[in-house]
Amino acid sequence: MLTRDEEYLLLKAREAAANAYCPYSHFAVGAACESEIGIVTGCNVENASFGLTVCAERVALFGARSRGASHIKRLAVSCVNVSSEAPAAERMCCGACRQVMAELMQPDAVVLVDGVGTFTLADLLPTPFALKLGELNGE
Ligand code: THU
Repeated sequence: MLTRDEEYLLLKAREAAANAYCPYSHFAVGAACESEIGIVTGCNVENASFGLTVCAERVALFGARSRGASHIKRLAVSCVNVSSEAPAAERMCCGACRQVMAELMQPDAVVLVDGVGTFTLADLLPTPFALKLGELNGE
């Protein structure tokens, strides 16, 4: 059962998918992240050089961080044109986005996946990569 705030965040993610630039995959995705600065949305933005494509989640997260957000507590994502019979895997966040979430969100932050359910970030990526540069530099 979702709270009203969670329903609203999912609605914002669905709305954001309307701006998806996905001429190659035709797979529109929207994301919305909630932090102390409010809600920032994003959509996937594809590129003819396919590897340069950026997912909706990362567009939303980078947008929030670059506007000054430091406590991102919830992220909603919606793959709006996936059929309701499709398996959950077709709606989940990719691994690259999970690693970016782990950089900018706490392990107990909530990720709402439209049509699938509610997860913590730790559910989605229990063992993220972490870099301790001090140790590498002998500090
Ligand atoms: N995509 C996302 O926006 N988020 C994900 O977590 C998975 C995939 C986008 C990238 C690409 O534009 C399209 O979906 C098909 O992979």
